[in-house]
Amino acid sequence: MSANPIPVIAIDGPSASGKGTVAQLVAEKLGFHYLDSGALYRIVAFAAQQNNIAWSHAEALGKLAESLQIRFKEGEIYLNNALITEAVRSEEMSRGASEVAVHPQVRDALFALQQSFRQSPGLVADGRDMASVVFTDAKLKIFLTASVEVRAERRYKQLIGKGLAADYAQILRDLQQRDLRDSQRSAAPLIQTPDAVLLDTTHRTIDQAVEFVLAAYKNIS
Ligand code: CDP
Repeated sequence: MSANPIPVIAIDGPSASGKGTVAQLVAEKLGFHYLDSGALYRIVAFAAQQNNIAWSHAEALGKLAESLQIRFKEGEIYLNNALITEAVRSEEMSRGASEVAVHPQVRDALFALQQSFRQSPGLVADGRDMASVVFTDAKLKIFLTASVEVRAERRYKQLIGKGLAADYAQILRDLQQRDLRDSQRSAAPLIQTPDAVLLDTTHRTIDQAVEFVLAAYKNIS
């Protein structure tokens, strides 16, 4: 089997660490494609709710995940041609995504779809298992994290900035619960692989984090 020459930068990390923003900016700077793998789990949770399928129903969710018509276009997300960008970003779908993501049936159904994003000239992919499962041969692997308090503060400010109601203590509790569920599940838990570079953004701005990733990539190119 010959190695895939298209470079991948895998950025994994816990919720609200800023990895999505960093990954998108890195992709823009390099002219690479971008995969927001978390969006796929959010879409499955959303579609399940629409179809009255419980987030605990592994078999039905796996079948549902295989049948979805998902399209990403100009920053928007479409499911079976309906615009769902805002709907899948809700806190309810954040929780739903982390519940449906524990099922191997769902993860398997999304595996090939995620790999199809690997297109020339390159891909920046963010999620929980980009380095450990989906793109094990990524050219650069980054584990992007920050303290749970700083992440809760960022999420709080993001919600307030959008004019939405937000409760810091509740956000902190939700993040702690999701961290636990994402790192303790048996299917593709969130881990830092031994070959990943740690990027702690507790005391770094988004721009500094982007610079860090670009410098690390330049170093190995
Ligand atoms: O933005 P945030 O980090 O809060 O969430 P996300 O990246 O959109 O991911 C939502 C949920 O999907 C996570 O809590 C994970 O449980 C799950 N997920 C996963 O299991 N594997 C991935 N590659 C990406 C997300």
